[in-house]
Amino acid sequence: MTASQKKLRLGVNIDHVATVRNARGGGTPDPLRAARIAELAGADGITAHLREDRRHISDSDIEGLMNILSVPLNFEMAATAEMQEIALFHKPHAVCIVPEKREERTTEGGLEVVREEKKLAEFVAPLRDAGCRVSIFIAPDKHQIEAACRIGAQVIELHSGAYCDAHHEGRIEDRNIELEALRDMSRFAYDLGLEVHVGHGLTYETVQPVAAFLEVVELNIGHFLIGEAIFRGFDPAIKEMRRLMDEVRN
Ligand code: PXP
Repeated sequence: MTASQKKLRLGVNIDHVATVRNARGGGTPDPLRAARIAELAGADGITAHLREDRRHISDSDIEGLMNILSVPLNFEMAATAEMQEIALFHKPHAVCIVPEKREERTTEGGLEVVREEKKLAEFVAPLRDAGCRVSIFIAPDKHQIEAACRIGAQVIELHSGAYCDAHHEGRIEDRNIELEALRDMSRFAYDLGLEVHVGHGLTYETVQPVAAFLEVVELNIGHFLIGEAIFRGFDPAIKEMRRLMDEVRN
C-alpha cells in the first residue's frame, strides 16, 4: 500500500439538490451553488447523475458544472448512446457507468457487466480515448469485478447499498456479511490494479467501517448529506463527513 492509497477522497453527489428544485420547477435550490459550497467544505470531487428521464440533474446543470468546478466532475450515466454523446462532448474527469431503470427511485443495484461484456467494452473504449476515467458501478462480486477489468475500466465503484440498508434496518448479521464483502472485494479489485471507490446509502453511522479499507480511495455520498443539510447546513454536514473519514484514516 503506497502513501497515496491512504488518502480518502470525498465525492459529494448533488443530485438531490436538483430533486428539490424540480419538485417546484424554477431555479432554487441551485445545484451549482451546492457544488461550490461542497468544494469549499472540502469535497474532492462533485458527482452528478444525468438520468435518461432528467428527473433531477439537467443537461444545463452538467454544462454549468463543467464551467464552474475547480474539482473533478464524476459524471454518472447509463450506458446509452445519448449519454455517451453527452460525455464525449463535455469530457468530464470521470464517467461512472450505472444501471438505470425508469421505475426505480434510486440506483438499486450494480451494473451487470458479465453478461454485457462485449457491448460495454465497445461503449467504454471511446470514453477512455477521450481521456475520461471510466468507473463501473457494481455489486461487490468477483465475477463483475473481473469483467469490469476486462472491459477496460480503470475504476470500480462498489455499491454499498446492501450494507447500509442492513445496518439501518438492524439486520446485524447481514450487515456484517455485506461489510466483509465490501472489504474482500476492495482488496480483490485493488490487486487486479483497479482504483476502488465505494458509494450509495452511506451515512455518518455507516461511513467509518468502509473508510477503514485502505484499498478504497474515494467515497461518493449524496442523499444523506443533502438531508442532513436541512438540519445543520450543507457546509457543516459535509465537514462532519470529512471529519469522520479522516478520523479513521489518521
Ligand atoms: N455512487 C453512485 C454510483 C450512485 O449511483 C449514487 C446514487 O445515485 C451514489 C454514489 C450516492 O448515493 P447516495 O445518494 O445514497 O449517497
